[in-house]
Amino acid sequence: ADPDPLQDFCIADLKGTISVNGFPCKPGSNVTSDDFFFDGLSQEGNTNNSFGSSVAQGNVLAFPGLNTLGISMNRVDIAPGGLNPPHSHPRATESGIVVQGTLLVGLMTTGNVFYSKNLTAGQMFVIPRGLVHFQLNVGQEKALIFTAFNSHLPGAVVLPLNLFASTPSVPDNVLTKAFQVEQPVIDEIKSTFGG
Ligand code: GLV
Ligand code: MN
Repeated sequence: ADPDPLQDFCIADLKGTISVNGFPCKPGSNVTSDDFFFDGLSQEGNTNNSFGSSVAQGNVLAFPGLNTLGISMNRVDIAPGGLNPPHSHPRATESGIVVQGTLLVGLMTTGNVFYSKNLTAGQMFVIPRGLVHFQLNVGQEKALIFTAFNSHLPGAVVLPLNLFASTPSVPDNVLTKAFQVEQPVIDEIKSTFGG
């Protein structure tokens, strides 16, 4: 989804002052082999949190060599029973492959149709750009997925955090009206997320 590059590479200068659409390139004379390799997805993530999942992002911010190239990857670790919560990527289609475990992968369309399937090692999925999706570990063992995106910075809107853990807070009367519930329900959800 990102625009095509106009040069062989443009290793991001993340401290660059201009950032109209991506990052400026670091001077070619400063480019080294290390700019084309990234270790950040090699370690198992810490799933000891309330969702029981962890997403390591290999996007342009973590791996500046991706700048302007229109691709990136994530590593997703999910404990048994854990969930990578419903979220969407505003700038990219996502494809993923299960490396370990058994996962329910689900997505919802703009017309509120729900599609899902249980996947095991070697099976792939695709999430069209912008659609809300999740992965739930329905197996007994830990699950591991690698995902790929057609953007160097796909972005992630994680719905529970977006609505209930924003800064500043979304007004309570917006949430009670949106979900058709009383205030204590909103208080309980917000307190769960430290809101
Ligand atoms: C999984 O949905 C991911 O965004 O990596
Ligand atoms: Mn995703």
